[in-house]
Amino acid sequence: ASSDPRLPLQLLIAAPRGFCAGVDRAIEIVERALEKYGAPVYVRHEIVHNRYVVESLKAKGAIFVEELDEVPTDAPCVFSAHGVPKSVPAEAERRNMMYVDATCPLVSKVHRQAERQIEKGQHILFIGHEGHPEVIGTMGQVPEGQITLVETVEDVATLPFTRDDKLSFLTQTTLSVDDTRELVEALRERYPQIVGPKAEDICYATSNRQAAVKKIAPASDLVLVIGAPNSSNSLRLVEVSERLGTDARLIQRADEIDPSWLEGVGTLGLTAGASAPEKLVREVVDRLSEWRAVSEETIMAAEENMIFKLPRQLTD
Ligand code: F3S
Repeated sequence: ASSDPRLPLQLLIAAPRGFCAGVDRAIEIVERALEKYGAPVYVRHEIVHNRYVVESLKAKGAIFVEELDEVPTDAPCVFSAHGVPKSVPAEAERRNMMYVDATCPLVSKVHRQAERQIEKGQHILFIGHEGHPEVIGTMGQVPEGQITLVETVEDVATLPFTRDDKLSFLTQTTLSVDDTRELVEALRERYPQIVGPKAEDICYATSNRQAAVKKIAPASDLVLVIGAPNSSNSLRLVEVSERLGTDARLIQRADEIDPSWLEGVGTLGLTAGASAPEKLVREVVDRLSEWRAVSEETIMAAEENMIFKLPRQLTD
């Protein structure tokens, strides 16, 4: 039977997991903006890709919209952690709006690198997933036509550039560490002249969470990843586990777990994407404990102590 409260279930809980410094900061920005300006505070795009976080902020007076033209000119607006194309703050300035940029500083760093590469006359090959807001934001830092999206190793072969073109590359922050390494190798092989960051721009939180899954997956019969279907770093955690041969499921909340998944499962790995609060991890552990005799072990892949400063307009 899958659910028998006497049946042991060993939980391997990945560390680090859940909130990264950029997500922490973005949520605090919305909360402080609500305190400072009063509700409503508009937020352009989900502040981070997590329904629970978004609903909690809505309850405090945040209003989520997709585009700036949905925001009244006299209301404060926060831009999400994923970053925005240059046209967005430009439009906000033009309308004389009050806005706070919650773009993760590690994404802003990529934005500045993009500007510098364009100043040097390089065409940018940007490694990322089409349609993700971070990709739209980073590609929107430079004039159209000066940056090309590369999604897969196969894409590299079809690029129209030659070995004489001045090329550089940058990457999305929440990619698969292994896929990106392969892709960068393919780029360097086809274009030996290409310049780029020393390592990829994959952030510390993304790589640490993937490293932790690599530790728990081989010892687990099943891995649960708490995260949203539109959360890039969470999807990558599912992939990492599956590539190691361990089934993995993405869940948003405990109520999505079907007890039948536990059939034949003695050891269960558990982690959470960078936008998922720890509260949801506890909720999952509690739910599992209703069905099985759970014992928990934390498996640590790295220590994190990153903290990002808040924008000055909210700390004065
Ligand atoms: Fe920033 Fe990485 Fe988190 S880019 S928002 S620290 S996942």
